[in-house]
Amino acid sequence: MEAGAPGRRAAATAAAPGVADGWHRIGSARSCTSPDGDRTEEASIATGLKPASWAYAEDFVPEDEVLKAARARAAEVDATPIGAGGGATLRFVAALLDARNVVEIGTGCGISGVWMMRGMRSDGVLTSVDIEADHQRLAKRAFTDAGIAPQRVRLISGAALEVLPRLTAGHYDLVFCDGDKQEYPQYLEQARRLLRPGGVVAIDNSLWRDRVADSGVRDADTLAIRETLSAVADDENFISVLVPVGDGLLLAQKR
Ligand SMILES: C[S@@+](CC[C@H](N)C(=O)[O-])C[C@H]1O[C@@H](n2cnc3c(N)ncnc32)[C@H](O)[C@@H]1O
Repeated sequence: MEAGAPGRRAAATAAAPGVADGWHRIGSARSCTSPDGDRTEEASIATGLKPASWAYAEDFVPEDEVLKAARARAAEVDATPIGAGGGATLRFVAALLDARNVVEIGTGCGISGVWMMRGMRSDGVLTSVDIEADHQRLAKRAFTDAGIAPQRVRLISGAALEVLPRLTAGHYDLVFCDGDKQEYPQYLEQARRLLRPGGVVAIDNSLWRDRVADSGVRDADTLAIRETLSAVADDENFISVLVPVGDGLLLAQKR
């Protein structure tokens, strides 16, 4: 199923946040009225925040040398990592859940993995899947540099859709999706199966380079992400929030 935006509403017509404080969208995803009725503002400033404030929030929890070095290695092999704001959010969620078992789809060079491990309980285990063994080799280095005991990381090399069905149903506190965007709908299906009640699925790139909110953009990656967001929003068994951190991070708790 494809939709212009999560849930049953198209992005172009969805009420923007902040109606109560005077800002709201008026028919176009890219325009809004200000409190005094001007229609010239971009929807991107409907929150009233300037780009500097977004940047400030993104870097509010700074990355240490371990993460910076892992990020530099990721740039060399083109495995785009989650941003610092998204990483901090994942760490926060893992801590809130007191997560013992986490699945990650798309190990990359270990940046998101290190963030999550730092929020999980001290005996927690990260199961991380990636199709590129080379990326996982670099991720191992990040985990070692971060002082994470090897027995706390289970790296599985392979295609996500072949590996995930072999993992134990209902066993996981958190499932983080950051692999092939076109497989996101299937990752969501697997997350439903893998999560315990109360567990959380986190989906990175949920705003996908500003493309998801623009209903005119219809490439395969964007359509798959929209389909995934719609499926979450339409599912009464999930309580969800789309956090506009980094490239967008959807969080949904399984009831
Ligand atoms: C965006 S990077 C992950 C970055 C990582 N989560 C981080 O923040 O550090 C995406 C990763 O997904 C892996 N990947 C792509 N398609 C995949 C698939 N079908 N199955 C498993 N891994 C896949 C890529 O090899 C790449 O390492």
